[in-house]
Amino acid sequence: MTVKFHTFDNFSALSEALSQQWLEVIQKTPEHDTASFALAGGSTPAPVYERLDQLLSGTTQHNLIKLVATDERWVADSDQQSNEGLFRRCLSASAKDKRWQLISLKNPSSTPEIATEAISARLNEQLPDAFSAVLLGMGTDGHIASLFPGAPTQHDELACLAAVHPQTRQSRMSLSLPRLLNTKRIWLVITGAEKRQVLDHAQAENLPVGDLLREAGCTIDVFWCP
Ligand code: 6PG
Repeated sequence: MTVKFHTFDNFSALSEALSQQWLEVIQKTPEHDTASFALAGGSTPAPVYERLDQLLSGTTQHNLIKLVATDERWVADSDQQSNEGLFRRCLSASAKDKRWQLISLKNPSSTPEIATEAISARLNEQLPDAFSAVLLGMGTDGHIASLFPGAPTQHDELACLAAVHPQTRQSRMSLSLPRLLNTKRIWLVITGAEKRQVLDHAQAENLPVGDLLREAGCTIDVFWCP
């Protein structure tokens, strides 16, 4: 596995570079193939999604784009905490042009534990085997998606698993590590010195992002700014 660092002076420059690369991946997808992407939530990546939305709105497209969250909080779409709600807000212009379809990690079940088998079946039915790219963030504890330190990274052979945020105790649904790793590209988007330090020590400290580094079958492109 290779890690390639892309360093930027600020997040605006990072967003521009990453969204341009993302658009290129979409445009190079063979006609009639489906481009599929897993998107991180949280507070970092929104400007990347907003810039991609602008770029997508300025182009014609010959294939369907399928999106899925790397993980979702078990809340209503209208809740500010919802990652899927975040994607719909950030990608609103291209949504109007029906440029993409969001495969939801949620259903009406009261807990993600109850929903895992149904959501895993939905993902297997509605997504191509391998993602075109997975965009991940990382917590300062080294978690990716909702795969937290010391917690399972897969449940049975399912594509997703229920998780609980260790601090907030918030219920989450996360893609499993094997499902996240089934991708042609990985973009890890982190900011600040602390996260850079965590990443540099991730494998030694047996963190979830260290599992990603160890097990990735493709280059991991790290997009970082101070
Ligand atoms: C989420 C994300 C999560 C996020 C990290 C970093 O649902 O919160 O998918 O994995 O990428 O927690 O979050 P920040 O970007 O807010 O630091």
